Amino acid sequence: MTEITLNTASCTSLIHCGQGAFSECASNISGQKFIITDTNVYKIYSRLLNEYFAQSPVFVIKAGEKSKNLFNLTKILSAMADAELKRDSTVIAFGGGVVGDIAGLAASLYMRGVRLVQIPTTLLSQVDSSVGGKTAVDFKNIKNLVGSFYQPHEVIVDTGFLKTLPVRQIRCGLGEIIKYAALDKNIYNAISDNDLFNLEFLASVIPDCIKHKVDVVSSDERDLNGARKTLNLGHTTGHALELFYKRKSHGECVLAGMYYELYIAQKLGIGEKKYFNSLRRLIEKVIRVPKYADVEKAAAFAKMDKKNAGANITLIVPEREGECAEININFDEYVRLLKEAK
Ligand code: GLY
Repeated sequence: MTEITLNTASCTSLIHCGQGAFSECASNISGQKFIITDTNVYKIYSRLLNEYFAQSPVFVIKAGEKSKNLFNLTKILSAMADAELKRDSTVIAFGGGVVGDIAGLAASLYMRGVRLVQIPTTLLSQVDSSVGGKTAVDFKNIKNLVGSFYQPHEVIVDTGFLKTLPVRQIRCGLGEIIKYAALDKNIYNAISDNDLFNLEFLASVIPDCIKHKVDVVSSDERDLNGARKTLNLGHTTGHALELFYKRKSHGECVLAGMYYELYIAQKLGIGEKKYFNSLRRLIEKVIRVPKYADVEKAAAFAKMDKKNAGANITLIVPEREGECAEININFDEYVRLLKEAK
């Protein structure tokens, strides 16, 4: 098992990563516990939860991004109060990114913060969302508009959970892994010539992705100095597509967003063409890049994104192996290039 520590001003997070991490670490979580999961995960793992956390209440939200809302947050807080959780109780987020985000926010609010353990069960949440302390719900059709920074005390990344994931979920996580590849030369080299859908291979790159994120977060926990922004590579257009095409997954949209943004960067003369083409090939190994018919309509959501103020859109684009740049582009120009790319 790989042990990784994330030190920030607010907390030290211990991240345990490997096959069997759950059975090794779950029984060490002491005190009163409150589990939050979703309908898909509960269907598969209710017995496991019962085996390890028999006496603890389990709050199950409906699977899917739509559940990340204030209404469910209130219901969770109400159930936490009914269970009489105390300051030293532990909220356990057992599931994917949606569960982790809303459970993290509930843990940060209840009594101004109770202990939080993230147990990510999807590839995406294992490599990205369970680490780094971003918590949120969506609000007014804007992703993650209401949230907090709240570091989990522990993250238990059991790669054994990947076995029960549908291939669409693997694709979704690969969106983030390819993002890391665009930011980190070693990850790029590791994934370039490998079978991206092989679970053993994926399990071997997860710790590297987490380590990359830990380095970034420890230098910019609150997303203030630009380092953490790089983790949003592909996400500006990706989030816009996700909000517009409601049924597409986050990972697919991030990959498509990255694809479009690579086109834009190339048109603006940024970065190396050969490198862009190899990143595009990686993306095409995972998704058939859709030619979104309404990409310009979707782009309107990029303008509403909390990261984009005024007439400009900010994009993080890869330049060459392991290096990226932040560019500001006028919104009309952005839409024009998106149309051209489709
Ligand atoms: N997923 C981007 C971040 O955690 O900053």
